[in-house]
Amino acid sequence: MSDAGQMFSDGKVYERMMGRWSKRVGVQFLDWLDAPKGLSWLELGCGNGAFTEELIAHSAPRAVSAIDPSEGQLAFARTRPAARLAEFRLGDAQALPFPDRSFDAAAMALAISFIPDPAKAVAEMARVVRPGGIIATYMWDIPGGGLPLAPVGRAFKAMGKEYSRTSDNASRREAMQTLWQSAGLQAVETRVIRITVNFTSFDEFCESSLVPIGPAGQVIAKMSAAETEQLKAHLRAHLPIAADGSIAYEAFANAVKGRVP
Ligand SMILES: C[S@@+](CC[C@H](N)C(=O)[O-])C[C@H]1O[C@@H](n2cnc3c(N)ncnc32)[C@H](O)[C@@H]1O
Repeated sequence: MSDAGQMFSDGKVYERMMGRWSKRVGVQFLDWLDAPKGLSWLELGCGNGAFTEELIAHSAPRAVSAIDPSEGQLAFARTRPAARLAEFRLGDAQALPFPDRSFDAAAMALAISFIPDPAKAVAEMARVVRPGGIIATYMWDIPGGGLPLAPVGRAFKAMGKEYSRTSDNASRREAMQTLWQSAGLQAVETRVIRITVNFTSFDEFCESSLVPIGPAGQVIAKMSAAETEQLKAHLRAHLPIAADGSIAYEAFANAVKGRVP
């Protein structure tokens, strides 16, 4: 748990790197869930509150409890005016600090691949959500190349540098389906959510994406100045940079939802 807390230590930098893209997926995800207003929600791996804000704006919950193992992320989440309704606390998705049947719904945004035992997290969600309640998640399709940072991952590969999260495979659509069904959840459905990530310039891409947080950031933080230049040269040569200098490409996430029996 402390590793995860250290990896995502700065909620403000996270927002620029990933939070804004999570929100774009989150809106489509919440449309798809089509949950009634006024529910009591649990959010796992809430991080800096990027998705929490969308959840509150979109689904008008009665209450939101949100947990994450990173104090740095939670500190930023607590400053978001639009997430004031939520109660943010330190916690691990694999051992939820809540009694059985405490919530109407549980959601986890971009977190399942960071959890060492995703099946435990799904079982915990099924325990704390009431019968009939919704359990859902979305995660970039990492093996399929759906990450907004996929160009950085390809550049790492060209430089002989590998990186991964603890449970990359849990982001596959079939893996999500199996996790939900194995937990005994009903009416399980999956889908792909596609978004466009866009930057005004190569410099903005670098300021947003080459930051020392998250798993890619841990690799970048250890690079020499020469390696950083090599990384940038590879990205400049391979990113789809338009004539006006802007950059846009597709990122895609897999999502799953089901109901507690
Ligand atoms: C990519 S961030 C996602 C943050 C936010 N939900 C979003 O959509 O932008 C992944 C988050 O998972 C959290 N995390 C890592 N291990 C966890 C665990 N065992 N239980 C709950 N959250 C965890 C990290 O601290 C981090 O904030």
